[in-house]
Amino acid sequence: MAVAELSTSYTKTSLHSRLSLSTRLADHRRLALRPRLLPRTQTGRVYCSVVSNQVQAAAPLQAEEAKKKPECYGVFCLTYDLKAEDETKSWKKLINIAVSGAAGMISNHLLFKLASGEVFGPDQPIALKLLGSERSFQALEGVAMELEDSLFPLLREVSISIDPYDVFQDVEWALLIGAKPRGPGMERAGLLDINGQIFAKQGKALNAVASRNVKVIVVGNPCNTNALICLKNAPNIPAKNFHALTRLDENRAKCQLALKAGVFYDKVSNVTIWGNHSTTQVPDFLNARINGLPVKEVIKDTKWLEEEFTEKVQKRGGVLIEKWGRSSAASTSVSIVDAIRSLVTPTPEGDWFSSGVYTDGNPYGIAEGLVFSMPCRSKGDGDYELVKDIIFDDYLHGRIAKTEAELLAEKRCVAHLTGEGVAVCDLPEDTMLPGEM
Ligand code: LMR
Repeated sequence: MAVAELSTSYTKTSLHSRLSLSTRLADHRRLALRPRLLPRTQTGRVYCSVVSNQVQAAAPLQAEEAKKKPECYGVFCLTYDLKAEDETKSWKKLINIAVSGAAGMISNHLLFKLASGEVFGPDQPIALKLLGSERSFQALEGVAMELEDSLFPLLREVSISIDPYDVFQDVEWALLIGAKPRGPGMERAGLLDINGQIFAKQGKALNAVASRNVKVIVVGNPCNTNALICLKNAPNIPAKNFHALTRLDENRAKCQLALKAGVFYDKVSNVTIWGNHSTTQVPDFLNARINGLPVKEVIKDTKWLEEEFTEKVQKRGGVLIEKWGRSSAASTSVSIVDAIRSLVTPTPEGDWFSSGVYTDGNPYGIAEGLVFSMPCRSKGDGDYELVKDIIFDDYLHGRIAKTEAELLAEKRCVAHLTGEGVAVCDLPEDTMLPGEM
C-alpha cells in the first residue's frame, strides 16, 4: 500500500511563493484552471441549485480574497444549494477530507468510494482536498475531472494542490497515502529518512491548519513510523488521533482463517494484527474467533497457524506485487474504508478491529512512544479505546517482542525527525515491508 504518488511537501512560506517555486507548474495551473474557474460571489462562490436551476448573480471576487482561497476545481466552484432539498432531505454538516497521493492507484479507488457516500453515509456531504506532487499535477486534474463527471450529489467541493498547508486547512480527516516506494539499492534507513521528511512536513502542516480534532490515517509506508513522525510534528493534535493502516492485514488474516476453516469470512471475528505493518507483524490467532469459538478449537493445526498462516499474512503484500507488478490498490482502498467506518460506527458487541495507534498508556506492556497495531473498539464517534480482555501465551509474547524491537529500532533511526535527538540507525536486520520481499 506504500506505492503511491510521492506528495512533495513545501513549507508555509513556499505556499505563498508557489509561482517562484515552480514557474512551469504555475503556468500550467493558470492555463489549466483559469478557463474552468467560474465567476464567484464575494464569498468566493457562485450559488446555484442543481434542483431548481436558479443561479444567483455572481459578483467578482476581490483580488485579495482570491489569493487566500485554495483553488476549487471546475464545477466544484459552484455551491450546491442545500436549501433546495431541505424539505426532502436532512444533510449533515459538510466535512473536509484531505487525501495525499491523490493521483495514485489507491486513491483512484478510494476517492470514488468517499464521494459515493459509502464511507460516511448517504446524508453526509463532503469536500475532497487533494494533495499531489508537481510531477503528478496533471494526473490530479484528471482525477478532479473524473470526479466532476461522476455527478456525486454528496461531493460538494474538490480542490487540488501540491501544498499541504493549502490542502490541510480545516480538514477533519487526513488520509495520507502518498509516499515514496523503496527504489533499487535503497537502504531501509534511506527510505525511512526520505518518507520521514515528507511526514514531518505534513505533520507540521496539520498542526498549523487542520481541525484540532482531525483524524489522520497514514497509509504510505513504512506507515507505523511515518505516523509516529507525523504525530510528533503535530503537538497540538492529540496523539490518539493518528493511525497507521493495518486493517488490510486484518482483512487478509480473516480471509486465510476462513479459507482454512471452510467458512465464509463473515464468520471470523476478533482478529488483531499486532505491531508493525511489515513482515514482523503478528496476526493473532489466539484471541481470534470463528463462529464465536476460539480459532484453535476450530483449526487444530497449530503448526499451520504458527507458521504458514502467519507467514502468508505477513508476506501477502509481496506476493500480490509479484502477481500484479505493483502493490495492492483496490483492497488497500477497501481497507481504508473499513478503517474509517470502524471509527464512525459503533463496534459490534464483543468484537474489535486493528489499527496502528500510539502506545502511551496501553494495557499490554508494549513500549510507550510507538505507533503499534493493537485491538481497538469505538463508540462510533471517531475515537477508540484499546480492548482490555486479551489473552497472551509465550508464542504471542515472543512474536510481539520481535515486532516491537523492530519499531523501536525504526524509531531510533528517525530521532532527528521526531525531535528526540540524533538518529542512530541500528536496524537489527533488514526487515521488510510486505511488498519488499
Ligand atoms: C501491502 O501490504 O500490500 C503493501 O504495504 C505492500 C507494499 O510494500 O507496498
